[in-house]
Amino acid sequence: MKLFVDTADLEEIQEASQMGILDGVTTNPSLVKKQGNIDFHEHVYKICEIVDGDVSAEVTATDFDGMMDEAHSLAKIHENVVVKIPLIKEGIKALRALDEEGIPTNCTLCFSSTQALLAAKAGADYISPFIGRVDDISSDGMTLIEEIAQIYDNYGFDTEILAASIRHPTHVKRSALAGADVATMPFNTLLKLLDHPLTDRGLERFLDDWKEYKQARKAEAGMA
Ligand code: G3P
Repeated sequence: MKLFVDTADLEEIQEASQMGILDGVTTNPSLVKKQGNIDFHEHVYKICEIVDGDVSAEVTATDFDGMMDEAHSLAKIHENVVVKIPLIKEGIKALRALDEEGIPTNCTLCFSSTQALLAAKAGADYISPFIGRVDDISSDGMTLIEEIAQIYDNYGFDTEILAASIRHPTHVKRSALAGADVATMPFNTLLKLLDHPLTDRGLERFLDDWKEYKQARKAEAGMA
């Protein structure tokens, strides 16, 4: 499973990258806004220089021509850029056209498996089901991932399932069990994947025992 961070924060991306397990980055207009007064294209370039993997950057036009113009200019920034296209009718047309041009795409704002079917037919490289936001409205985000995985498997679509809007480690675990190809998550959620109280307690005990062992060795050496 590929692991992406869902952030536009360069320090977080750098830190995740230094862990050696980062496969890519996803951004969206809300995440870019959090970075304050930055130049979007320059910022995307900086992210691409940090990460050796796919970096999703989203168009904000909602008409076909506007999406295509933005997609072309985003794709020119860096070879790592994957153009994020919203799951609307004009977006489906843009996905098809970009696929024909060989520009990689991530179809975003997916909330149903029938939407995901259309995105795959249009040639999207990634589909982004927003599981946390589905949970937010008392529905089940994981069922969405399972349905998409089943449908893509039934028909041999090669669109990769990118589980998005991940809020906690259980979302990551269940996405992996359901066969999602990628999980994108906030940096603090990535760090939470490490957490286990028995690891902390076990390490503390090992280090205490090691200290006592060393002290005993030193004391014996002193007596000899
Ligand atoms: O990048 C899209 C997605 O991951 C958004 O997550 O937490 O805003 O629902 P969230």
